[in-house]
Amino acid sequence: MVQIAPSILSADFLHLSKDVELVNNYADLFHLDIMDGSFVPNISFGFPVVEAIAKKAAKPLDVHLMIVNPEKYVERFAKAGASMISFHYEAARENSGLVLRQIRDLGVKAGLVINPDCPVEAIFPYLEELDFVLIMSVFAGFGGQRFIPESLERISCVRKELDKRGLTNVPIEVDGGIGPANAGSVKAAGAEILVAGSSVFKAESPSDAISAMKNA
Ligand code: DX5
Ligand code: ZN
Repeated sequence: MVQIAPSILSADFLHLSKDVELVNNYADLFHLDIMDGSFVPNISFGFPVVEAIAKKAAKPLDVHLMIVNPEKYVERFAKAGASMISFHYEAARENSGLVLRQIRDLGVKAGLVINPDCPVEAIFPYLEELDFVLIMSVFAGFGGQRFIPESLERISCVRKELDKRGLTNVPIEVDGGIGPANAGSVKAAGAEILVAGSSVFKAESPSDAISAMKNA
């Protein structure tokens, strides 16, 4: 069964408690986007917001770091309540193995993320050292963008490589422009965790939107 991770970036920041409550029983994870204004041209939120959500969330926190020097901050995000932490290959490059190990040593699941213009082969050397792969289906930085169709091929390519190496338990998470209309094809390509921001929080009924994606 596919997991749905609503992205808090699209929630109502004046009523975060209400929005967490709205999806608490339906979501599988809470996806928290951390942007530093340097790796991406946008700034989102930091530790106090993650800590506040951790108090209310009934599901694990999936922290997506869109920051430079992720190794400086993974420990604080683990302390703030993250169960999963992913960082961009483009931000860590040849240090990716070290950062993955650092995250795992904190008892947190470690994920490596790639933007749509990064060849999927770049992360192949790290597949044995990670707990999940996050494939961006939009360029990291903003919610509400359109799903890039070429992402489907990238998802199946990584799925094939994971399976070839016997890493059948390593899930692929996909992030950006996902909603009830395309969730089926994203799943069919091999994704097991779907991040969804605007299609959940801007929906009339966030719980219905989550069910629609699960059943797509
Ligand atoms: C984009 C973020 C996404 C974003 C998804 O940089 O990583 O998690 O919140 O939002 P939607 O689902 O609206 O594309
Ligand atoms: Zn994200």
